[in-house]
Amino acid sequence: MKATVIGAGNVGATTADVLAYRQIVDEVVLLDIKEGVSEGKSLDMLQASTLSGSQTRFIASTNDYSLTANSDVVVITSGVPRKPGMTREELIGVNAGIVKSVVEQVVKYSPNAILVIVSNPMDTMTYLAHKVAGLPQNRIIGMGGALDSARFTIYLSKALNCSPADIQGVVIGGHGDTTMIPLTRLATYKGVPVSQFVSADVLKQVAADTMVGGATLTKLLGTSAWYAPGAASASVVEAIVRDQKRVITSCVPLNGEYGQNDICLGVPVVIGKNGWEKIIDFKLNTEEQDLFSKSAEAVRNMNSVLSTLSL
Ligand code: NAI
Ligand code: 2OP
Repeated sequence: MKATVIGAGNVGATTADVLAYRQIVDEVVLLDIKEGVSEGKSLDMLQASTLSGSQTRFIASTNDYSLTANSDVVVITSGVPRKPGMTREELIGVNAGIVKSVVEQVVKYSPNAILVIVSNPMDTMTYLAHKVAGLPQNRIIGMGGALDSARFTIYLSKALNCSPADIQGVVIGGHGDTTMIPLTRLATYKGVPVSQFVSADVLKQVAADTMVGGATLTKLLGTSAWYAPGAASASVVEAIVRDQKRVITSCVPLNGEYGQNDICLGVPVVIGKNGWEKIIDFKLNTEEQDLFSKSAEAVRNMNSVLSTLSL
């Protein structure tokens, strides 16, 4: 299996590192527009592989898409990240142009690939990728819910003082501080609702911490996070290349599901060799459905900015 990661910055390089370290694919192409970045990081990771025992091969590319040809999966992380105080949404002007041109090149050289979109604002970039790529809709997946659900799981495990391995927590909706919806009602500790172990106030705080999970890290780091985003991106690639049929909240086009149309938004989907294969209906209650509709409204407003840009 061959994976390409576009953008060899913090998230892209970490994604490539996890893909190689865990031998999820046989070959990783790392491509960046900046001369030397992908070459240097690929060489560093190759040297690390002599210590880890990984057999994954590396190919480095400075904007040469011919080296990405016939990739099975392409992860797109190219673009600018958040700075402290910035929202993901403020990145749209720069990142839309980058994502559009990258998607065009990727599809030209790997027409059968499955695309995983990471660049922010991710819901809008995924929507844009669907418009530009002309691929079957199952072959474009936005990564955000995997990361937000991981953060939710960690905050829940801290609140319950338990192992995160025993927690099941899912975040749906947009990948934004105000648009994501941590589903506290459906979160469980070993299959039992978490509400049986902690108070409603604690769960409210867990949800609030999850929603600003990215912003908290951006403030600490001066740029947005990369270890969990890279691991989350690699987990989506793994579900595809190993045909795992895992349920991972991902940003996909909705055609009536969850009451929405003409939008890409985070919902639980089954991921396997065909990309996202099925949307799972979590049967939201009225309050959750209301939040989902509000999230969709905000993302739709963001999508409408695309038509004002000269792409
Ligand atoms: P970074 O600045 O470390 O890396 C971005 C890389 O993209 C740079 O090396 C840059 O040279 C490259 N690049 C820019 N234009 C390019 C082009 N046209 N072709 C190829 N490469 C190009 O940024 P970082 O931290 O890796 O973040 C990348 C993106 O991922 C940002 O938009 C960020 O907001 C987003 N992100 C999304 C997450 C999610 O859950 N969906 C989580 C974390 C970050
Ligand atoms: C994150 O959630 C900013 O999307 C990035 O860390």
